[in-house]
Amino acid sequence: QEVIHDELPGSEVIVVSNREPYIHDRDGDRIIVRRPASGLVTALEPIIRATRGVWIAHGSGSADRETVNASDRVAVPPEDPAYTLRRVWLTEEEENGYYYRFSNEGLWPLCHIAFVRPQFRREDWEIYRAVNQRFADTIVAEAKSKNPIVFVQDYHFALLPRMIRQRLPEATVITFWHIPWPNAEVFSICPWREEILDGLLGSSILGFHTRFHVNNFIESVDRFMESHIDRELSTISTGGEATLVNAYPISIEWPPRALLGLPTVGDCRRRVREQLGLGPDVKIGVGVERFDYTKGIPDRLRAVGILLERHPEWIGRFVFIQVAAPTRAKLDAYRGLQEEAMAVAETINARYARDGWKPIELIVRHHEPEEVLELFRAADFCVVTSLHDGMNLVAKEFVASREDDRGVLVLSTFAGASRELLEALLVNPYDMDTLAETLVRALSMSEEEQRDRMRLMRELVRDNNVYAWAGSMLMEAARMRKRREVQNHF
Ligand code: G6P
Repeated sequence: QEVIHDELPGSEVIVVSNREPYIHDRDGDRIIVRRPASGLVTALEPIIRATRGVWIAHGSGSADRETVNASDRVAVPPEDPAYTLRRVWLTEEEENGYYYRFSNEGLWPLCHIAFVRPQFRREDWEIYRAVNQRFADTIVAEAKSKNPIVFVQDYHFALLPRMIRQRLPEATVITFWHIPWPNAEVFSICPWREEILDGLLGSSILGFHTRFHVNNFIESVDRFMESHIDRELSTISTGGEATLVNAYPISIEWPPRALLGLPTVGDCRRRVREQLGLGPDVKIGVGVERFDYTKGIPDRLRAVGILLERHPEWIGRFVFIQVAAPTRAKLDAYRGLQEEAMAVAETINARYARDGWKPIELIVRHHEPEEVLELFRAADFCVVTSLHDGMNLVAKEFVASREDDRGVLVLSTFAGASRELLEALLVNPYDMDTLAETLVRALSMSEEEQRDRMRLMRELVRDNNVYAWAGSMLMEAARMRKRREVQNHF
């Protein structure tokens, strides 16, 4: 907010993402509001609240249309309005081609190393391009000034930055790619690789989570585009204005808003234990994510099985709670995953369950942020073993929730967060034997070691919070705008 106020006075901020921050659904006679399970939304929501701008997103809830005014706008958050949500309505065909297929069957597996074959079809590409154009039209319609700051989110909108630049040449377009960027060889699988690179290079600033992803992007441009790359300045130009390509590790609000009304850590522990009928000495491990094949959920459950087989002294002494929110269930790759994870959990439970105790609780439903934080606070350890992940904000939320300086984080080396949270127990999620031993280490870690590790991680998340993330991109944007003014003036 200060950056906007001091460095970018009078600037208009427009955020664009596919997923909306509030989803209105009809439940019989009532309309219920859900907050989606999305790292992107978790990170962006505090920023747009602070800048009081407009957020443009695809209206996906069954009652979304009932809540908007004549110009498709609604003031949110519903309980305490701070900014405007402008919904874009997509037809079923558009949603299938652009969101489910091109974005989530093409670009998602292309960018994540999870060995799911990307599917690219011309008809999906055409819909993807047309939907990007529809969002560009909406941005132009929403913009009140000729030089707004447009903050474009993620792989759903690779073509949008160039489209904005063509229509609003003075806009400052900041694009953040929330998922990994693959190496040039993998990226070259995409039949429209040049169009995608050119679309993104319409940005003034293009951000990734890690330097590794930035380097992969630069190599992809080097290989497939005519361009001038300045590796020192980390800029790319293809004729017009240069794009600054940099790493900006995303983060969360500090402290998370949802923590404010939450019971103490002790109360959270008691409540969760009561709900699950667990005695005070039973340890709790948790995993919380969307039911996505990049998250490594079945492998993690298998590791719990290996642990019990090798260390039978833990039978009856700990429970692993896996919360998995249904996601993208129309796609085959997702449906199969849920069946696989449930089968693994059932087999392990059938083998080890006794006297009212079972080792794995697999809970397949959406959880609101408060429920997730309560679970984190109740846990002795949290497991984030993504096979590949841009950043992974669950890891940072777990750390933020532990005001008691306790709890162990087990973290995949293939999540961007592992470059920052060095005091986590870092693991290769594909190596289930080592993962099982790491879980034992988490179960047995002394309180003193937990405290020392947690304190360092908490300091890092506190200092590198989401305001610092957005602030550093907005500061760059302010510098660029001032430079342009000087150039135009003299
Ligand atoms: C990832 C993506 C986000 C997306 C989120 C949830 O974090 O980077 O863009 O919003 O997953 O997925 P969904 O498809 O439900 O929006």
